Amino acid sequence: MTELRAAITGVAGYAPDYILNNEELSRMVDTTDEWIMTRIGIRERHILKGEGLASSDMGTEAVKLLLAKTNTNPEDVDLVICATVTPDMMFPATANIISDKCGITNAFSFDMNAACSSFLYALTTAQKFVESGTHKKVIVVGTDKMSAITDYTDRAVCPLFGDAAAAIMLEPTTEEVGIVDSIFRTNGTGRHHLYMKAGGSQRPATHETVDNKEHYIYQDGQTVFKWAVSKMADVSVEMMEKHNLKAEDLSWLVPHQANMRIIDAVANRMGLAKEKVMINIERYGNTTSATIPLCLWEWESKLHKGDNIILAAFGGGFTWGSTYLKWAYDPK
Ligand code: UT7
Repeated sequence: MTELRAAITGVAGYAPDYILNNEELSRMVDTTDEWIMTRIGIRERHILKGEGLASSDMGTEAVKLLLAKTNTNPEDVDLVICATVTPDMMFPATANIISDKCGITNAFSFDMNAACSSFLYALTTAQKFVESGTHKKVIVVGTDKMSAITDYTDRAVCPLFGDAAAAIMLEPTTEEVGIVDSIFRTNGTGRHHLYMKAGGSQRPATHETVDNKEHYIYQDGQTVFKWAVSKMADVSVEMMEKHNLKAEDLSWLVPHQANMRIIDAVANRMGLAKEKVMINIERYGNTTSATIPLCLWEWESKLHKGDNIILAAFGGGFTWGSTYLKWAYDPK
């Protein structure tokens, strides 16, 4: 039997219109454009405004564009995995809501949450369905309305995050392209350093949890920073060594966009020049599950069939990993 590989055959993204820049942020908390640019590297982020609008609405925009771009009939989609840490509600899955809004009626769908590594975990899961031959058109959509869980009085956290969505189509191929390999790790001791304190079964919402602002992102920034730098670089270098890839063999690194200094450190460890690193953090901030596909969407016209690409992420949990793929198509 011919071996099937899973290849990305299309990508689309969506960012809401409203732009929150550092100047506006510096009127909300005690911060400056200079501090945010030097320490994080973010100038502006998109924010989803509007009563009742949620992660599914952004995910729906991205998936509708993806369906149109790939000429896909929604009824032909077999599986939808939504990567998100900000689901519309605890249940049902945001993937189901997106599928319904997009007319995807013959698929099964579910959500995946591995904090900022959600998209990569979802991509590797989708890959297995495609490689097994059971599913032929699989959508992975990363969408996060981070503004819903960001405390805009906390200057240590609020500059970091933004809202966006992006989606990829994954299909089987017998060519030498597509996802080659992934390395993933989890270390649960990290759960104390980046999390939301309340709202789960351990500490359901009460007046007290709301008053204590426990439904917002809590993070010990310095610890997360140190882990992110070393672990994202470790798995990416491990991937290069495993596949005998030198820096010159790589076309692109697509890192999760959390902090410009983290991205620089990872690229340095891999020996990669900045021109080979997809970076759009300055314009979007950390959009959690959307960062990596959003980069692929923005860079799509520069990607060529056979390009060697490493995707790398680190997130709460702690979760981290890298995926090595060969891009499957030339600019259309
Ligand atoms: O994908 C995973 C998600 N999260 C991350 O990857 C985040 C990883 N961590 C980081 O990116 C960085 O730790 C931060 C950007 C969050 C913070 O940068 P830092 O260089 O670690 O700063 P710090 O927390 O050590 O704070 C340094 C100083 C403190 O003042 P003092 O105590 O030295 O007087 C902070 O109070 O900077 C102060 N500070 C700010 N000043 C101006 C913290 N936030 C701000 C701010 N504006 N927004």
